[in-house]
Amino acid sequence: MKPLLLIYANIITAIPLVLFETGQKVLGLFDTSPPALTVPYNVLEEWIEWERNLAFDRIIRNIGGYGDDLDDDNVAKGAVVASRSKVDPDYFYQWTRDSGIAIDALTTKYDDGGGRNETLRRIIEDYIQLVSRIQRIENPSGDFRSLDGLGEPKFLVDGTEFNRPWGRPQRDGPALRSNAIIKFINSQVQNNISAADSFISTFYKVIKPDLDYVSTRWDKPGFDIWEEYNDIHYFTNIVQLRSLVSGNRLTQLLGLDELALQYHRQADKIRQFMLSNYYDPRRGHIMESLHNDHRTGLDAAVFIGTSLAGSDLVFSVENDTMITTLDKLIEDMSRRFAINNQRIEEITDKKNIDRRRIGVGIGRYPEDIYDGVGFTLGNPWFLTTSYISQTLYTLAEQLAHRAKPLVITGDTISFYSRFLGTDMDRIIGSTDPSYTRLIREIIRFGDSFLDVIREHCATDGTMSEQFNRNNGFMQGASDLTWSYSAFWSATRQRNQTLNKTSYIYT
Ligand code: NOJ
Ligand code: NOJ
Repeated sequence: MKPLLLIYANIITAIPLVLFETGQKVLGLFDTSPPALTVPYNVLEEWIEWERNLAFDRIIRNIGGYGDDLDDDNVAKGAVVASRSKVDPDYFYQWTRDSGIAIDALTTKYDDGGGRNETLRRIIEDYIQLVSRIQRIENPSGDFRSLDGLGEPKFLVDGTEFNRPWGRPQRDGPALRSNAIIKFINSQVQNNISAADSFISTFYKVIKPDLDYVSTRWDKPGFDIWEEYNDIHYFTNIVQLRSLVSGNRLTQLLGLDELALQYHRQADKIRQFMLSNYYDPRRGHIMESLHNDHRTGLDAAVFIGTSLAGSDLVFSVENDTMITTLDKLIEDMSRRFAINNQRIEEITDKKNIDRRRIGVGIGRYPEDIYDGVGFTLGNPWFLTTSYISQTLYTLAEQLAHRAKPLVITGDTISFYSRFLGTDMDRIIGSTDPSYTRLIREIIRFGDSFLDVIREHCATDGTMSEQFNRNNGFMQGASDLTWSYSAFWSATRQRNQTLNKTSYIYT
């Protein structure tokens, strides 16, 4: 059922004047353009809050031992099921990637609450327990002794191996898994719940094998985040880099200096490798994979990686290379799908607003043809759309804390002119009114992407994997855990950005 408010919303949209004023009152955005939304601002904000809680509950509902009915299906305790869909498509598995990302969201929430949520603690501990078991299961990627088995992308829900052909290995899994677990340990230590050395055995048993896998294999090809292409990838490398940077800090804390040094050295190598290889000056954007001549290389995976690994490792989101990549991806997607054009028309018909400030549904990459069940044509996805809004919120936060003036170059003018028009100053000091306007507009742009999600998710708030490019209806695996993790973390970043930029609104 839709919350009452949303029903109202539809009535209010019919009266543009009310809509305009409501938007201004909520954030106090007096000198900005009208919001690029199909509902008033307060309706969107209420929905975000409602959906955010729902999304979090939905993650837990798909975890063995915590979600109803999963026991009947032999789901192991702590196993994160990607989706309950068993046919067309069959997603009833635990993917290392989806699980690590879901547990990362749970851990973040656990830490935000000062480590006091016992249920979350138990879920995370069950997950760690299960990981230690799964790591040791021989599978088609290899075994534990050689470490090769750690690159296996998915397991059955009961924790046994999946023996059919698949795109393997996928080398992001061990990194994502250890990122989530290290975050949990850091939280326990910082909140004085457990002392660092109480994690020595967890470190040796669960974390060290994954970090050793990463530090010895980060430069080897493997299948990408989308399980299709065997190469070296930006997404894989950035989450691997995060794992070694976090692993370095953890081993220092545990007094394991030699390992700390080893992780530090490998992290440096990954950083250097990424800096010199992923930006293609000829194409003017970051490439997701290094040797794929059949594609543009534009890929939402770049922003998923940055959202999960942090913006401080290689190219920060305000870096020109990221800005141009983001700009090109959004531009491509906005023209690619009919529902995006319809939305742009619907909003520009009612309001005087630049079409390039309107959020759209984002697909995985331009050439995608996976429709969620088979191969026809690609669609926008909920999770990629969420990560783009997260990226915009992160960018707004970083710009707000920047001491130097912003220099807009020939490369970035296309992005910044979305908000400031083409005749803007090319150097903007942080106290200039246009600077604060820019930050507000970037936040609003992020909100406009969340509004797309609001339009296409079910009235009960559930989300599948994709929404159809022509009619907007949900398609692909139903109730996809990753759609919820992504939405939850985008809204967490939104809250953080709004808190840190509150001076702009008052
Ligand atoms: C299912 C998914 O992993 C999807 O990403 C991929 O395109 C197809 N399998 C084909 O490998
Ligand atoms: C297909 C996606 O391409 C892949 O990234 C994901 O891990 C699986 N579906 C499971 O959600």
